[in-house]
Amino acid sequence: MQVTMAVNGEEVTHDVEPRLLLVHFLRDVLGLTGTHWGCDTSNCGTCVVWMDGEPVKSCTVLTPMAGGRVVRTVEDLEQDGELDPIQQGFIQEHGLQCGFCTPGMMMTCRWLLDQLPDPSEDDIRVAISGQICRCTGYENIVRATRWAAEHEAAVAVGNGSGEPEPQDAEVSA
Ligand code: FES
Ligand code: FES
Repeated sequence: MQVTMAVNGEEVTHDVEPRLLLVHFLRDVLGLTGTHWGCDTSNCGTCVVWMDGEPVKSCTVLTPMAGGRVVRTVEDLEQDGELDPIQQGFIQEHGLQCGFCTPGMMMTCRWLLDQLPDPSEDDIRVAISGQICRCTGYENIVRATRWAAEHEAAVAVGNGSGEPEPQDAEVSA
């Protein structure tokens, strides 16, 4: 069947098997391999993307269910060559080891920061509670998210616009 959706700001249309999972559509049809596929049991969360602005485990979504929706993947975090503050936070606070869980973790933590700009450590732990880091790097994932929150807040105050400027955030680290 034919499915059309917006992925990272671009409309895409493809003929797909109705049973094709969104994670496989993104990776195998669109070549967006930043989204990982880890468990097949809806447990690990490395496949998290946004659908209509909400994080979803893309291994639990049939591709036709995403028809007409807006999908955002980890590839869209970087904008105009500038890393998102959550990406910078993962770098600054060593939020990844093997990196397998990282795309899903960053998509969830970016979403959390958009809902709650100053999340507590508990808020962050609750947000990622449906995801697994096999390297058990949770402590640094929490620190990375706090780093992004603090730098976005500092930049918002600094430029007076309320808009974060990731490049400035990195300079002020
Ligand atoms: S691959 Fe989707 S939850 Fe593990
Ligand atoms: S960094 Fe290895 S699974 Fe999380």
